Amino acid sequence: MKRVDIRAYGVPEDVASCVEVADVGAPGPGQVVFDVLAFPINPADIGFCRGGYRLRPPLPATPGAECVGRVIAVGAGVTHVVAGDLVINLQRENWAQRRRVRGEDAIPLPAGMDLRQAAMVRINPPTALLLLADFVTLKPGEWVIQNVANSAVGRLVIMLAKRQGLRTLNVVRRESLFAELSALGADACLVDGPDLAARAVAAAGGAAIRLGLDAVSGAATGRIAACVADEGIVVTYGSMSGEDPMVDRSHFVYRGVNLGGFMLGRHLARRDDAAIQAIYAELGEAIADGSLHAPVDRVYPIEEIRTALAHAQQGGRKGKILVTPNGAI
Ligand SMILES: NC(=O)c1ccc[n+]([C@@H]2O[C@H](COP(=O)([O-])OP(=O)(O)OC[C@H]3O[C@@H](n4cnc5c(N)ncnc54)[C@H](OP(=O)(O)O)[C@@H]3O)[C@@H](O)[C@H]2O)c1
Repeated sequence: MKRVDIRAYGVPEDVASCVEVADVGAPGPGQVVFDVLAFPINPADIGFCRGGYRLRPPLPATPGAECVGRVIAVGAGVTHVVAGDLVINLQRENWAQRRRVRGEDAIPLPAGMDLRQAAMVRINPPTALLLLADFVTLKPGEWVIQNVANSAVGRLVIMLAKRQGLRTLNVVRRESLFAELSALGADACLVDGPDLAARAVAAAGGAAIRLGLDAVSGAATGRIAACVADEGIVVTYGSMSGEDPMVDRSHFVYRGVNLGGFMLGRHLARRDDAAIQAIYAELGEAIADGSLHAPVDRVYPIEEIRTALAHAQQGGRKGKILVTPNGAI
């Protein structure tokens, strides 16, 4: 079977390759074997290949924080899934044609779900949901400001906020995205820049913006902090700039703005299994009925992983880059 390995940490398209390895074998007791139908290339996977991610396993290593698969066999004692079921895998190393995992890590998805959307269920939808849930309790009509608003997470924040009656101020790098984001439910769109705070406050009609979401980091975190009301919070959850947050201390000291950090694994770990399953069931349903979605720019075969990785790092993409290791989509 084919698998993606990185043999060094470095430029993703240079260090990753598609290699032939032994099949994963039959499932043991409590295990599930599934064919990987599709996986996305997320910013965290790029960070993993570069060696900048929090996990830096010994090499060679296989990237892949998420995927969708179809169960081909289950071991003794596995009752929650059967052959033919669609599953996501809660563990990593998913850039391969086939995986053998612990049964409890294989979470079933609704049958017939769009495979492209199913490949992106595990990380970004719960991230968007918990970013809106875990820091402040906002009342319907209140405003949230976010950068990277056209990213997969950003779009999901727009759609989930709309469902909750919240209003979103969406910061992007180019004005040509405004119409598309408005159609998703964005209440206002702004191009990032030094005068962001004045424009954001005006767009919100002077209403207090109590939650700011930042995944650019660097000086962009400071610009979001400047938009947030006194005693509000900025949650930083990514660093597309590759920098650490830079926030003028006056926001903390004079205005009481807080800076929080989010990592999905840490926030899921605060919940028990039933609560986690409930989150995925709710999101799975919304994705299956089409009310939550993220765009896909292009799908590559696993043999073209290097081209796919280079494409995934280009700005101005029209959506995610997916890979289909068994040609299923
Ligand atoms: N902490 C967590 O648990 C967690 C979980 C999921 C995601 N994340 C983070 O969330 C962020 C978005 O992830 P995603 O999968 O939704 O991303 P994505 O769909 O791949 O989109 C990437 C976005 O980043 C923007 N971007 C790229 N370089 C940038 C730069 N230098 N300055 C400003 N914007 C830049 C792109 O804008 P253009 O369209 O203008 O190129 C695009 O909107 C990432 O930082 C990711 O690591 C964190």
